[in-house]
Amino acid sequence: MSADPADFIRAQTRREHPSLVPELVLHLASRATDLWEATEATLERTGLPPPYWAFAWPGGQALARLALDRPETVRGKRVLDFAAGSGVAALAAAKAGAAHVTACEIDAFACQAMALNADANGLALEILDIDVLAKPASGWNVIFAGDVFYEKPMADKVWPWLKAAAATGVHVLVADPGRAYLPATGLTEIARYTVPTSLDLEDRLARETRILEVRV
Ligand SMILES: C[S@@+](CC[C@H](N)C(=O)[O-])C[C@H]1O[C@@H](n2cnc3c(N)ncnc32)[C@H](O)[C@@H]1O
Repeated sequence: MSADPADFIRAQTRREHPSLVPELVLHLASRATDLWEATEATLERTGLPPPYWAFAWPGGQALARLALDRPETVRGKRVLDFAAGSGVAALAAAKAGAAHVTACEIDAFACQAMALNADANGLALEILDIDVLAKPASGWNVIFAGDVFYEKPMADKVWPWLKAAAATGVHVLVADPGRAYLPATGLTEIARYTVPTSLDLEDRLARETRILEVRV
């Protein structure tokens, strides 16, 4: 099998419309475990993170829906989609008229998948393959954080960074479908969506997903 990441992604995914955001087309997989095994076999490595990039998670889809339904949230603004995965929310922000959209990821496959997904939709993204948590957020008006509170070590790093960004005037929007490490305080709900999902990824067929503003 080719080790070229773009060829690998094209071979392992199908171009599909995410359930809540049919306006976009993404390279998506249907079975997480099969793709995870194929990734490890191709790279001849084990212990890799799951291929999150091949799924549009409820958080990302809810943020994408919000951007398309309330374009004033992003129109003319500089938007960061933190931990963007497939880039679903970033692409929706670009489609909704953001002035500039950055999508960041620490997974190299996710960065490649986002480039393919941007091309597939004829949209422009700046893709950052660095850990933006190493420095205070700077240069963005809006930060999206979809489905980022599923693991404690990550939540412990992300939450202070998002709060610090909000304190400098950035409009920080978290989208969460009920993950274990969502902070209990400091968030205000502004929207809610029922996102269809699959039993391969979740323990149910839909997830109530809230969009929450980080309060200053
Ligand atoms: C559950 S996925 C959510 C992806 C996307 N936001 C969505 O909702 O579809 C979480 C993503 O966080 C990424 N991630 C974890 N730590 C990160 C960090 N420090 N910076 C950027 N991305 C990170 C992972 O690689 C993974 O793709």
